[in-house]
Amino acid sequence: MKDKFEKLEGLRLEAKLGGGENKIKLQHEKGKLTARERVQLLVDEGSFQEIDAFVKHRSNDFGLEKQHIPGDGVVTGFARIEGRQVVLYSQDFTVLGGSLSETNSLKICKVMDMAMKIGVPVIGLNDSGGARIQEGVVSLGGYADIFLRNTLASGVIPQISAILGPCAGGAVYSPAITDFIFMVKNTSHMFVTGPSVVKTVTHEEVSFEDLGGAETHASKSGVAHFVFDNEVETLANVRKLFGFLPLNWKDQAPEKEFDFKKDLVNEKLDGIIPANPNKPYDMKEIVRLLIDDSDFFEVHSNYAQNLIVGFGRVGGLVVGVIANQPEVLAGVLDINSSIKGARFVRFCDAFNIPLLILEDVPGFLPGTEQEWNGIIRHGSKLLFAFCEATVPKVTVIIRKAYGGAYDVMNSKHIRGDFNFAWPSAEIAVMGPKGAVEIIFKKEISSSKNPDEKMNEKLEEYIEKFTNPYIAAERGYIDEVILPRETRIRIVQAFQLLKTKVDFNPKKKHCNIPL
Ligand code: HXC
Repeated sequence: MKDKFEKLEGLRLEAKLGGGENKIKLQHEKGKLTARERVQLLVDEGSFQEIDAFVKHRSNDFGLEKQHIPGDGVVTGFARIEGRQVVLYSQDFTVLGGSLSETNSLKICKVMDMAMKIGVPVIGLNDSGGARIQEGVVSLGGYADIFLRNTLASGVIPQISAILGPCAGGAVYSPAITDFIFMVKNTSHMFVTGPSVVKTVTHEEVSFEDLGGAETHASKSGVAHFVFDNEVETLANVRKLFGFLPLNWKDQAPEKEFDFKKDLVNEKLDGIIPANPNKPYDMKEIVRLLIDDSDFFEVHSNYAQNLIVGFGRVGGLVVGVIANQPEVLAGVLDINSSIKGARFVRFCDAFNIPLLILEDVPGFLPGTEQEWNGIIRHGSKLLFAFCEATVPKVTVIIRKAYGGAYDVMNSKHIRGDFNFAWPSAEIAVMGPKGAVEIIFKKEISSSKNPDEKMNEKLEEYIEKFTNPYIAAERGYIDEVILPRETRIRIVQAFQLLKTKVDFNPKKKHCNIPL
């Protein structure tokens, strides 16, 4: 029997080595960790249970018959993060560049199917040269099998992708369908076609990093939600994100203990809004003062910075924060911020995460660039997302709430549960100058002193509309509150809404404007 046990130990050792010592050395020289080192960093110590470590590919073409490496380029299994179960796969670049073969795909699909049955998130660590070229269409089929599972799992279990090396061609579409993408500066790349194809087709010269590096995707394309300097930091932040998420769509995000006897009044909030309504301030300061321990985990921090989105806790409960940022483009809504916000709102709604909306928005961004690129189509995504969301939704109007953007940012009319406003709130169809120029056009132009008339009408308009009280008289605002009272009010609101139940009409699926 001893020799049988020793045989198993030997096979395990062989599988653990993946592509062998030399390939591991090369991987380290590129500044990358191995598939197994990554798993160890990601999950709770000793919790990883691997499966399919002995699976080998079935191809005999182009020399593959001489390269049967156990595990076949991907490590799959189950583990725990902060004690909570997770399913994961980690592509092993040391084995044929982590390329995706028939059996490699079967391994990934096996754990994804298991994740759906047991209702736990999937984390994919990607580091692959793409479809295993020697296997041809079988490998493409393997990708499609994964894409289908990513799609069917969407909204059922959270899916997180970390890109830790190359991710090229159609392979990008698996991470793209998942909920969050992490990338690492300098060592991870995503593109549909690489720099050489780009050069042939469009004659553009572009580096790997500029075309599909982490910073490009975090700030220009919006493909990456998070970017970090190295893999250790990246994996630590995957753990952090995981801590804000429920295991599946029926589960609740992990609640933390909270001392409700604590003094929640915070006078610092009274001093943030400048006296001049056109002066910017940093909305993140308000976010940090409103959430527990100022622990805000921002998503998409480098993309469409005029809208802030991210996770935090209020009274121990996880909430998704969506806030206009007056420091960038005066906090207007544009195409990119609408798409960013809509995707975040829909993620939170799919996974029972309540929404906290902090509003200071002068409207949608005007101009041909926005109109021609479809601000109507894209702006409606954010509106649609807030309208369809049935999770608890609490809005605080901090300052401006003008035009369509007032409706969009989770107004009472689209099922806001609690809509508060600070005394500094300005709620109107449009800003004073534009409004006065339209409605008093004749009166101003026919006046002997147009400037004086303009100022007189401006004062009248400001007096009437740049406050929260008309909305409060109609019940569109539930309560006008002092800034310092905000934290206590939102803590109470989210506690009250814990048992909220709301439904949308039954249907096959909605048709969000894409
Ligand atoms: C088979 C592959 C491979 C692949 C890499 N390797 N990619 N084997 N199929 N797709 C192998 C290499 O032959 C090499 O094997 C080992 O992995 C390491 O590769 P290197 O080139 O030495 O590494 P590096 O210099 O770091 O370059 C990494 C790379 C490059 C940029 C990923 O290997 C590359 O360009 N690979 C091809 C990428 C590609 O075009 N893939 C197809 C994309 S289209 P040895 O034995 O020498 O160590 C696609 C379609 C998906 O994926 C469609 C889904 C719908």
